[in-house]
Amino acid sequence: MVSIISEKSKKLSGEIFVPGDKSISHRALILGACAIGKTTIENLLESEDVLATLKALKELGISIKKNHKFWEVRGNGLGSLTNPKKTLNLGNSGTGVRLLMGLVSGCDITVTFTGDESLNTRPMKRVIIPLEQSGAEILSNNFKLPVTIKGNKIPIPIKYTSSLSSAQVKSCVLLNGLTSTGDTSYSEAIKSRDHTEKMLNFMGAKIFSKCINNKTNKIKLSGLPYLKGKHFSIPNDPSSAAFPSAATLIIPDSEIKIKNVCLNELRIGFYISIKEMGGYVKFINQKNISGEVVGDIHVKYSKLNGIIIPENRVPSMIDEFPIFCILACFAKGKTVIRGIQDLRNKESDRIKEIVENLKKFGFSVKSTPNSISIIGGKKVNPRKQIIIDSKFDHRIAMSFLCLGLSMENGVEVKNAETISTSFPNFYDIMKSIGANLKK
Ligand code: S3P
Repeated sequence: MVSIISEKSKKLSGEIFVPGDKSISHRALILGACAIGKTTIENLLESEDVLATLKALKELGISIKKNHKFWEVRGNGLGSLTNPKKTLNLGNSGTGVRLLMGLVSGCDITVTFTGDESLNTRPMKRVIIPLEQSGAEILSNNFKLPVTIKGNKIPIPIKYTSSLSSAQVKSCVLLNGLTSTGDTSYSEAIKSRDHTEKMLNFMGAKIFSKCINNKTNKIKLSGLPYLKGKHFSIPNDPSSAAFPSAATLIIPDSEIKIKNVCLNELRIGFYISIKEMGGYVKFINQKNISGEVVGDIHVKYSKLNGIIIPENRVPSMIDEFPIFCILACFAKGKTVIRGIQDLRNKESDRIKEIVENLKKFGFSVKSTPNSISIIGGKKVNPRKQIIIDSKFDHRIAMSFLCLGLSMENGVEVKNAETISTSFPNFYDIMKSIGANLKK
């Protein structure tokens, strides 16, 4: 078990690069495996989650190698995966397992998936239901892992309406639809991150989406596209950038720049919310790279005010709520977040972990099954170092380490090794801007 201690820090400053985007990294490997020919990937996130997907694809017969700076994936075309010799263990990665379940369900193979203690408790019904509709035969542990899938070589094209706004469910259904002979349709009530759609389009698939009445997002994918191997240059992860950004906002006189970050409009709800709170966040040097908007984030220490987060913003900041709640504790007045029931199904029950841990410091925070409200802006002064167990949730670990940077007696986060699932150099990057972290 690794513990990291964070202690009161003086102003943070500097220009930093956080690692490559996790969502796009998983997809670049998986879509490269579906393409014909070589896909090259620059700035792949080499974190435990992404490496678990990479290893699983190798077990499924795909050749993936690192050649100097770039990763090379040799795809053999759609439906060409082979039976793995062993159970595929996706570790902590919900994205890895749910996307791969979609992919193998459209191939003539049988695969068993499992994960770590946290992943094995997470719900898989959301992907099992549509995959069974497309003809896959699935055995599960009461809709949890381990799951065994006997794929259907030619999946039935489905029209699926998801009750969740989940990019993992959407991507699972679309990946499954790739080997179908007809059109796969998918609709979601609020648009979730659209990297899969953008990347499929970039590789040559016929995929269209439209928003109906400014709300429901409908996607149509034509089956059996000819996917060409491409070069992906992966922008840096806005979800990882949220941690140094938040630390900067709460430590007086701090100012940093985070370079080359993915600023896809469906990923920046956290930054939009900070602006609404009165925080200084600016996007600069914006450009378009491989279909994604990329730019630098300039953040300064700011006085913040509480806000109400509109429910339709939730998917665009779904991973940022742990760190956002830390900011809300420093924002004057009340912050309310509703419509976040799915936070209970993340790497931990995030509503529970956020609320119980913030209470240890004396913050005024309440929850219901699907909401959190915080009255912030009041000084708290814990008399001793507060101990937080990450519960194998990387974002809980990093959020409370950021909070510790403003606490007289600091914070100790136990089981902090989980940070390597998404942000392996968090410790070094934070130290490079002046964060007082110790192992
Ligand atoms: C992801 C989608 C989100 C997010 C996760 C990454 C993705 O999950 O929380 O970290 O890459 O598709 P949901 O689809 O379950 O909301």
